Amino acid sequence: MSENTPVLEVKDVSIAYESARGSVQAVSHINLSLMPDHILGLVGESGSGKSTLANGIMRLLKGSAHLVGGEILVNGQNVYQMDARTLRQFRWNSMAMVFQSAMTVLNPVMTVEQQMMDVFLSHRKGMSKQEARNRSLELLDMVRIARKHAKSYPHELSGGMKQRIVIAIALALEPSLVIMDEPTTALDVVVQRSILDQIKELQREKHFAVLFISHDFSLVAELASQVAIMYAGRVVEMTESQGLSKHDMHHHPYTSGLMRAIPRLTHEDVEIEGIPGHPPNLVELPSGCAYHPRCPLAQPICREVRPEPIATGGRLIACHAFDPEKRGAFVHVS
Ligand SMILES: Nc1ncnc2c1ncn2[C@@H]1O[C@H](COP(=O)(O)OP(=O)(O)O)[C@@H](O)[C@H]1O
Ligand SMILES: [Mg+2]
Repeated sequence: MSENTPVLEVKDVSIAYESARGSVQAVSHINLSLMPDHILGLVGESGSGKSTLANGIMRLLKGSAHLVGGEILVNGQNVYQMDARTLRQFRWNSMAMVFQSAMTVLNPVMTVEQQMMDVFLSHRKGMSKQEARNRSLELLDMVRIARKHAKSYPHELSGGMKQRIVIAIALALEPSLVIMDEPTTALDVVVQRSILDQIKELQREKHFAVLFISHDFSLVAELASQVAIMYAGRVVEMTESQGLSKHDMHHHPYTSGLMRAIPRLTHEDVEIEGIPGHPPNLVELPSGCAYHPRCPLAQPICREVRPEPIATGGRLIACHAFDPEKRGAFVHVS
């Protein structure tokens, strides 16, 4: 695999849920690219389609969800053109996912060690039990969990420990892509912080690529070098995370809104300004730009025409206010 091959390419991907009331497109025409050893953040309010996209990449879409268009390539291989057996191997060896809830992954009736050993024994043909056990203990070391917990059952461990184990299992076969879908959301702030630091440290050491998904802008901005901002199933902005918090007038109005919603920990009294209104119902998406009913800069055109993403200064922004031809770049102010 060449250094120049993206670990992940999401090309014009759309995913829909079907129901008696019709089809709901939760992910619409998304394009993303992630290079080896990079961390790409994906941020957006709850319901914006982040998990649907993550499951789609893993080809783990649930219920009625299905890929309605586009291509997903991991290490240059089309995830949707693999037979079931290849996909099963590919999932652990090349791409792995860390879910929000550790219990989605951990089996309550197996010890931590058994579950870790399972991954090795079912994916590394010919590996002895002893070797698998040794590797499992090394995984515990890697995420700084004392070896004595190897014989524990999940319910005997704290939430933070369980999530560390899930991360260790995801990394067991050294995949080049790890998708983390709100990996710390269920945990308290202190534990969140330590897990985040651990993810950073492991990533620096092992050089896997991460798609880091969160509704929490501050987490994403801290961890990722590039951030995709999602609204109502679409990426409305793609930007470098460096300097994100400084120039909010240079961003999509939704990005600016999310940034203002970050509590500023250095100023205790600063009020958090939420984005007025609610994320839209995907069944009745607003016309034009889906964000227009909440947007402080909405113009008549925003109600009528959906803005296409425009490349500007190394970023992508889908917003009429950013169209340099029509309105002058960055006309909106916070
Ligand atoms: N099981 C489901 N059945 C039908 N629609 C769903 C289901 N899960 C999610 N959706 C739709 O997909 C949208 C995106 O959901 P999701 O991907 O979970 O968002 P996020 O992870 O950003 O919170 C939801 O707003 C909802 O409309
Ligand atoms: Mg989600």
